[in-house]
Amino acid sequence: MTLGPNTRRAVAGGHFHRAPRGFALSASNGKSGLEFESGCASRRRDIRALRKLADMRKQLLRTRLPIVIGLIVATGCSTSHTNTTASPATTASPPPASTTNGRSIFQTGKDVSGVQIVAREPPLFRSCAACHRADGSGGVHLPGGAVSADLRHAALVTNQKQPYTIALLERAISTGIDNTGASLSPVMPRWKLSKQDLQAVAHYVFTELK
Ligand code: HEC
Repeated sequence: MTLGPNTRRAVAGGHFHRAPRGFALSASNGKSGLEFESGCASRRRDIRALRKLADMRKQLLRTRLPIVIGLIVATGCSTSHTNTTASPATTASPPPASTTNGRSIFQTGKDVSGVQIVAREPPLFRSCAACHRADGSGGVHLPGGAVSADLRHAALVTNQKQPYTIALLERAISTGIDNTGASLSPVMPRWKLSKQDLQAVAHYVFTELK
């Protein structure tokens, strides 16, 4: 399938610098399905085209087509018909629940349900951020001469001979064994987390601390 000439103009001249990924319209009859530039004179044809697009949208739910329709209608001839056939532009999807949970545990020491995380021995501080800082950069001097580790990606992965993986992070967080197999300072708590919480916080450290 290719973009019809009118479509390409509508897209390029109007609101996009490039055709959105996955966006394609059939022009098998030699005419484009979109003929919006002609203004309100061809409104009825436009409405038919919009209805056709609405049908196509159902088959192309995962494409950017709804956004295209929304933008074209928002700037074109707005009638009650077009309003009912168009769907509003989609907004950015929220982060997955596990990311929200991982962030909550790291920053506040409580998971998304408000449950305080606990460790084998009572920890000196109750959140990861209290020792490792909110951005994970660490370097905080703690009692007993311990210095909290830098948990950002460069420190844990890029600059490591044996880079951390999410599984190795889970091990370090729950048992205090680091990526090389060595034991971490006892100031780093051995956290007792549910499987879900452990995965969430390890994933958060691995992917969100830059
Ligand atoms: C009471 C302070 C404290 C708290 C709270 C704390 N840490 Fe640590 N953490 C440390 C210290 C200190 C080290 C460095 C230990 C060492 O160098 O042997 C460390 C090391 C680590 C390491 C190993 C890094 C490496 O370079 O091998 C990881 C991973 C880690 N912490 C994750 C976490 C996570 C996730 C949390 C929250 C669930 C957390 N820490 C909470 C003090 C803390």
